[in-house]
Amino acid sequence: MAAARFVRDPHSYSRPAEVRVDHLSLSLGVDFPRKVLSGIATLGITNTARANVLVLDTRDLTIHRVTRDGGTATTYRLGQARPDFGAPLEIDITPATRSVTVEYTTSPGAAALQWLDPMQTAGKRDPFLLSQSQAILARSWVPIQDSPQVRFTYDAVVRVPPQLMAVMSAENPTAKNPEGLYRFRMPQPVPAYLLAIAAGDLEFRSLGRNSGVYAEPEVIESAAREFEDTQKMIDVAEEMYGPYRWGRYDMLVLPPSFPYGGMENPRLTFLTPTLIAGDKSLVATVAHELAHSWSGNLVTNATWSDFWLNEGFTTYLERRISERIYGREQAEMLWVLGLKDLLDELPQVADADEGLVVDLDGRSPDAGPTFLPYEKGSLFMRLIEETVGRARFDAYLRDYFDRFAFVPMTTEIFLADMRSRLLSQVPGAEERLGIAAWISGPGLPSNAPQARSEAFARVEAQAAAFGSGTPAASLQASNWSSLEWLHFIHSLPQDISVDRLRELDARFRFSESGNSEILFSWLDLGISRDYREVYPAVERFLTSQGRRKFLRPLYTKLVATPAGREVAERIYARARPTYHPVSQEAIDAILRGAS
Ligand code: BES
Ligand code: ZN
Repeated sequence: MAAARFVRDPHSYSRPAEVRVDHLSLSLGVDFPRKVLSGIATLGITNTARANVLVLDTRDLTIHRVTRDGGTATTYRLGQARPDFGAPLEIDITPATRSVTVEYTTSPGAAALQWLDPMQTAGKRDPFLLSQSQAILARSWVPIQDSPQVRFTYDAVVRVPPQLMAVMSAENPTAKNPEGLYRFRMPQPVPAYLLAIAAGDLEFRSLGRNSGVYAEPEVIESAAREFEDTQKMIDVAEEMYGPYRWGRYDMLVLPPSFPYGGMENPRLTFLTPTLIAGDKSLVATVAHELAHSWSGNLVTNATWSDFWLNEGFTTYLERRISERIYGREQAEMLWVLGLKDLLDELPQVADADEGLVVDLDGRSPDAGPTFLPYEKGSLFMRLIEETVGRARFDAYLRDYFDRFAFVPMTTEIFLADMRSRLLSQVPGAEERLGIAAWISGPGLPSNAPQARSEAFARVEAQAAAFGSGTPAASLQASNWSSLEWLHFIHSLPQDISVDRLRELDARFRFSESGNSEILFSWLDLGISRDYREVYPAVERFLTSQGRRKFLRPLYTKLVATPAGREVAERIYARARPTYHPVSQEAIDAILRGAS
């Protein structure tokens, strides 16, 4: 591991260049009735600057006591809290201090945590706890240096009610223990945003040599079937990008309130159950979270301004893995669908946010995530591949993951490295790439690669035929895959009438689709066209899952009309308590903003 050089991180109070945390020893009591964690966090530190203060990030934590070196009481100050950022915890130390111990309690509203009632789970018997630490939410459940450039190993002891299993982004149990006492060890150093915990009525199922899935008993069977290709994905990813360095790759399928599609918690990817479509059509998200085991978890964006280094690289790797397993045609479909997300969104993002590197000073990195770092970033990667050739690019990437493993990365360092090791070998490559337009220019540069899918071209022809009057019943759509149906909905005329939407729904039953992406796209279109017959389906969807990516556009479109706003407010009054704080914050803003 190369010596870490730290850059300024506008989202952390910590000063790792002076003192850095290199190990966390955590003891947590999980209190469901009070919805709090009672914690004792012992932080091993390296004090390179012989500093007299250690600054940690906290958010809504109640601090009870701080000691150093295993018992000596010490003084500390909790600073002024800022919204989203929380408050700095300054702990007095001496240059000889090796560890500090913080005794604390989280707040019931901790931004990273969601406490589910039994009714919000598949089994409806037991409560469930889940966390989401990225980007700067870890500080709401652990007092820590919450900057992605600070890495530490960790171990933990977690106490839960005896009928539950606890799991973390670490070495995990595969069976419950009757005491409800679980021990964890994470031997690879990780940044705070990859700290994760969950507890519930969980069962484990192996999927292969070093992969498996955790889920509630009601879901485990369908999850194991949906994600049966995971071991193959690991194997091809290793072939392309070098050894998988985290031991096991397991997944946890959460209850439907999980706010993201997936989260790359090391050793234990967290997944929304809305990926379980029955036909493996949405498993690119597994390829994506797995790919983060190289891009993101191994080589990590130094600050959130370089987020594209995590997500753009990963989206590119995700499609390479998908191509290896499902073929070129399927991968091209994913590229086309991704480009659509980007093009839809571009008119809505501020000009200043259109480059790959963004200035997030003073803004919360959790408010945004747009498709831009994902799709513009991955197209930039694809352009590099097409410019220098696949074999050469693959060799470079494999070597890059190796040389920068467990090291923070900035765009500047990446570009310098790529220039000296890759572009210098290929005459004219630098000029053809036009790097500046990608990194700091707006929109999509004119040399963006073009994905093409023959299957999608056929789908577009059918959508066009429908647009010019062909009845739904006469469309040639037999044997379409879920992705083709998705693309069909995207390709329908923007000004489609309510009558014709009704005709499509009667024939193809989109409003009842069990595929969350198809259902989402259909409801989104329906609301846009003021097709109010979809409102009951909208209500079912918004009250049965809490993925921010699905919630945000639907609520946004609803509040655009007075009738829709009324519906949105009524649904949200009921749904809000079932959403994770991450989603609550996003939807609060929508309902507030448009009022
Ligand atoms: N790391 C992200 C999720 C994330 C990003 C959480 C920023 C908090 C802040 C994860 O890998 C991701 O990208 N998830 C996507 C799925 C992916 C296939 C695009 C999601 O949740 O939709
Ligand atoms: Zn990602």
